[in-house]
Amino acid sequence: MSNQLEKVKELIQLREKARLGGGQKRIDAQHQKGKYTARERIAMLLDKGSFEEFDMFVEHRCSNFGMEKSKFLGDGVVTGYGTIEGRLVYIFAQDFTVFGGSLSETLALKICKVMDMAMKMGAPVIGINDSGGARIQEGINALAGYAEIFQRNILASGVVPQISGIFGPCAGGAVYSPALTDFTIMTQGTSYMFLTGPKVVKTVTGEDVTQEQLGGASVHASKSGVAQFAVQTEEDGFALIRKLLSFLPQNNLEETPLKMTDDPIDRLEDKLNEIIPDVPTRAYDMFDVIGAIVDNGEFLNVHGDYAKNVIVGFARFNGQSVGIVANQPKFLAGVLDINASRKAARFVRFCDAFNIPIVTLVDVPGFLPGTVQEYGGVIVHGAKLLYAYGEATVPKITVTLRKSYGGAHIVMSCKQLRGDINYAWPSAEIAVMGADGAVEVLYSKEIKEADDPVAKTQEKKDEYNALFLNPFNAARYGYIDDVIEPRNTRFRIIRALQQLQTKKLVNPAKKHDNLPL
Ligand code: HXC
Repeated sequence: MSNQLEKVKELIQLREKARLGGGQKRIDAQHQKGKYTARERIAMLLDKGSFEEFDMFVEHRCSNFGMEKSKFLGDGVVTGYGTIEGRLVYIFAQDFTVFGGSLSETLALKICKVMDMAMKMGAPVIGINDSGGARIQEGINALAGYAEIFQRNILASGVVPQISGIFGPCAGGAVYSPALTDFTIMTQGTSYMFLTGPKVVKTVTGEDVTQEQLGGASVHASKSGVAQFAVQTEEDGFALIRKLLSFLPQNNLEETPLKMTDDPIDRLEDKLNEIIPDVPTRAYDMFDVIGAIVDNGEFLNVHGDYAKNVIVGFARFNGQSVGIVANQPKFLAGVLDINASRKAARFVRFCDAFNIPIVTLVDVPGFLPGTVQEYGGVIVHGAKLLYAYGEATVPKITVTLRKSYGGAHIVMSCKQLRGDINYAWPSAEIAVMGADGAVEVLYSKEIKEADDPVAKTQEKKDEYNALFLNPFNAARYGYIDDVIEPRNTRFRIIRALQQLQTKKLVNPAKKHDNLPL
């Protein structure tokens, strides 16, 4: 065998060793926990055979606690690039089989390398987290490594899409990297995120809580809102990441991707002409409206288990990606509250950062009143959504279906917040408040003194309804561009999107804004 052939053989052997990570025993243990290994995850997520690995031969440099005797090729993370539906992505997947995927100085350098490449190339970064956190033996070097990653997350925010899969533990300060990214996906039963684990919680607060109760997928997808998605299996997570990316541009300088569709642009949906119930307090399902108007009824519901009174997610109109924000009358009557405002504001800002037009479907009775909301700072949180819509320069199309009252009317992408096209259905009610409240404020004395207070109340309500509870009052002032037939909504939105394709709007130059946080 020639010298060169010998060296090639050595290379192949080294690669095989590296592919085993922390060894077969630990790979088996990973499988027993119902988890895939880092390499299996990458293979499942990316287009077949597209993965190219970097830094397979990196080893840690730590000599504390006899660590120099314990080294693994690759050092606990698999990094590189590949494609999803033929489009370039950068990826890192923490390898739990090597020191529990814990983060060392060199492991951090590997992650930083792919993040830097992603920024240079203008491609999304996907991080698969499954780690015991900072590598304890490395002390401050591990912390510095985390900080390097966080700094890159911050600079990449709004430049390339960043997606975090949490498919194992993610604890301590490590959780801040996913929190800085655009979308976080957690697996049910095998992943958790928290700043301090159950033992510390018990010591500090006396509270008995399991890992699942403290930071499992359901908790973060429905209670805290930290995760946008909770999935049953890792396979579901990979399918979701692929789907999510199909709606997004590669970076902030690209237009949204187009996907050919055979769904006719002028498809009429007769059922929409009858979807609004006669009784104003009765609900209907906003998902039925969304499903009826978007291409092939396909909608990716983001943050679906959190603040269900507002719906946000991605869909397409005639092949073009859009972000949809819609009040959900079926949940808390579609009222805006703290969580709904935060959820929608973050989504609107994401869409604006990545040139994704926003379609807003309005049926909102107002902001949720009461001390819980006021003490929780609903003023500031509601202002976030107001701010997000007002600063957004992407095409903004608003359709008011039914209620649009008071401050919530303004917040939900009204004309004066630079809404480009504002349509309303004939059933729209655009006013400062509903008839009950208005009559109470304006005529309570008159009603009390009336011979028949009930009849008087009804008379005043009818008067108010006739004047305000329709779209034509707003249309008379040009605040509504047109009152449209509900069944024709898809066509009108597609025409509006086509018209707005060349929209150019630039906000005043500034270092950065001071969004009410
Ligand atoms: C070094 C670690 C490690 C760590 C796990 N391992 N975490 N090594 N530093 N942080 C090693 C274990 O020694 C073990 O090595 C292997 O990884 C697998 O760990 P197990 O404990 O056997 O696995 P499991 O029972 O599944 O438990 C997983 C775990 C537990 C819950 C994550 O390992 C754990 O509690 N780890 C410590 C978590 C932690 O407190 N990290 C610091 C958080 S603070 P062998 O050789 O036996 O396979 C932090 C600050 C970040 O991260 C700040 C950023 C700003």
